[in-house]
Amino acid sequence: MVSIAIVNQKGGVGKTSVTLGLASSAARKDLETLIIDLDPQGNATTGLGIYEPSKGVVNVLEDEFFGGIDKVSERSNWPSDCGQIPHVAASTPDLSVCEPRLATDPLGAQNRLSLSLENSNWPLVIVDCPPSLGLLTVNALFAADMALVVTEPGAWSVDGVARMIQTIEKIQMRRIDSKPSIAGIAVNRLGRTRDDSYWNAKLEEAYSEFQLPKIHLRTAVAEASAQSLPIHGLGNRSGALEASAEFDYLLTLLLEDDYSENNSDKEDSDGYL
Ligand SMILES: Nc1ncnc2c1ncn2[C@@H]1O[C@H](COP(=O)(O)OP(=O)(O)O)[C@@H](O)[C@H]1O
Ligand SMILES: [Mg+2]
Repeated sequence: MVSIAIVNQKGGVGKTSVTLGLASSAARKDLETLIIDLDPQGNATTGLGIYEPSKGVVNVLEDEFFGGIDKVSERSNWPSDCGQIPHVAASTPDLSVCEPRLATDPLGAQNRLSLSLENSNWPLVIVDCPPSLGLLTVNALFAADMALVVTEPGAWSVDGVARMIQTIEKIQMRRIDSKPSIAGIAVNRLGRTRDDSYWNAKLEEAYSEFQLPKIHLRTAVAEASAQSLPIHGLGNRSGALEASAEFDYLLTLLLEDDYSENNSDKEDSDGYL
């Protein structure tokens, strides 16, 4: 099993879009995947076509539930011709009230998600995190093998990523296995503007050792989420093929242990805005 937490304490940078893009690639590769939606906004849940979940990840967070994740997960509603359909431990509205309650556990509630994944057999688990450094994100970082930091190429993104990396390193020090490893930084929604190039260069300069391939700004990415479809299922829609290829490449690198940093320069200029 490989588990990846998709993190950034800032909202709107593309955590959910990257989660869904990677899920789409995994489906195409016939990889059985569990998506855990830890964001009370539930965008990954709806992006997977689940609108009124009857159960969800909150049920393994409210109390210790050893090995319970499968019992609170369901098959997503992506079309069956997209490959191996991902399952989802959905976000439900009560997830937002769960987080402050976790903080009141005198024994610490940071490892509830991790406990629920014990004995789990999913080849791939992707955890879409909320835009905060609270106990939901901390649970993801205690459970995951690796953390993928998603950022936009915007003002203050270098500072935001620095704060995220500090948090990951603090968790590494508290975990007996020193995980999660930092899988890298994926710059998302990279467009053609001078501002994007400037901030992208700043991120590359600050974190050269963590560079991953970019995900470009393409309306197909937003459309796939809005239509609750995998990006690979958008067919000939402009930019869909190119975006799918970017997510395929990113997933391949994440699943390899020792990818080359030089791969981050891969050329792909078609179809992005
Ligand atoms: N590569 C992309 N190209 C175009 N739009 C994108 C891309 N990535 C994200 N978006 C859009 O940006 C908005 C925020 O993305 P989202 O994945 O919800 O961010 P987060 O989960 O970090 O809050 C959404 O409307 C989404 O559709
Ligand atoms: Mg999100």
